Amino acid sequence: MSQIEDAVAQHYTTGALTERVRDALQASGVDPDAATVADLKAGDEFHTGGVAATDHLFAQLAPTHATRVLDIGCGIGGTSRYVVDHYDSNVTGVDLTPEFVETAIALSDLVGLSQKMSFQVGSALDLPVPDAGFDLAVMLHVGMNIDDKAGLFSEVARALATGGTFALFDVMGGSIDEPLAFPLPWSTLPETSFVDSPDVYKNAAAAAGMELVAENDRTEFAIAFFQEVFERVAESGPAPLGIHLMMGETAPEKFQNYVANLEAGRIRPTEMIFKKTG
Ligand SMILES: C[S@@+](CC[C@H](N)C(=O)[O-])C[C@H]1O[C@@H](n2cnc3c(N)ncnc32)[C@H](O)[C@@H]1O
Repeated sequence: MSQIEDAVAQHYTTGALTERVRDALQASGVDPDAATVADLKAGDEFHTGGVAATDHLFAQLAPTHATRVLDIGCGIGGTSRYVVDHYDSNVTGVDLTPEFVETAIALSDLVGLSQKMSFQVGSALDLPVPDAGFDLAVMLHVGMNIDDKAGLFSEVARALATGGTFALFDVMGGSIDEPLAFPLPWSTLPETSFVDSPDVYKNAAAAAGMELVAENDRTEFAIAFFQEVFERVAESGPAPLGIHLMMGETAPEKFQNYVANLEAGRIRPTEMIFKKTG
């Protein structure tokens, strides 16, 4: 693991996560041993818009039971379980943070989906997967921790079969070129944050033999989503189960800074879908 990767994994390690998710389920009135995929959704999709964002991305992908899916930077496996639950595909999840991988395995066991899934600790820049082994690679809110976008795209191209799809949803640079307010959900300090413009992604994809087939600016969706979340929290307080469980004590500040950066136009949550042509 590189020094940056070490620091990123440290950032996401908050301790006893599986236990805290189980406790939060209990506090929400759900028996953790009888939990369903849906019960976990409030706390296992660690990206802007949660499961609504996942719905939006996958509506453009429509995998089948035969699609071999790779979830890059899978976190605690929320998106991976979504794919198995909705499409019955086989999913491999890879993530840098050992605690997230442990929790991904435990939660997938809990909801009875482990037969269709496997999770491994590993880097997006050196994926522990075979060449051309996947038809669909997805990556949600991971690129902000990866400086080497060219290396990322060439590694994803290696893992995809020809004609395969790479779908991502990342926080990219907005129209206003100003320093970001920190801490943010993906990084406490600028040193481990690599928010790049959409052009950096597109150039890296083209160099790796991938063709852009869709691009969606999700800023308006993100602003509306956070407005609703803040209103809900102001009315009834934070729900026990939420992505704050993965964000440490500064979670409220990280959310506030994210929204401030978003409203100032410094960041732009963006979906991109590519096809591997070569
Ligand atoms: C904001 S979370 C998103 C997790 C998950 N994709 C989701 O949407 O729920 C970012 C994730 O990227 C992982 N990550 C960051 N850099 C990575 C890298 N170079 N290789 C693999 N995973 C990485 C982190 O460990 C973390 O789980």
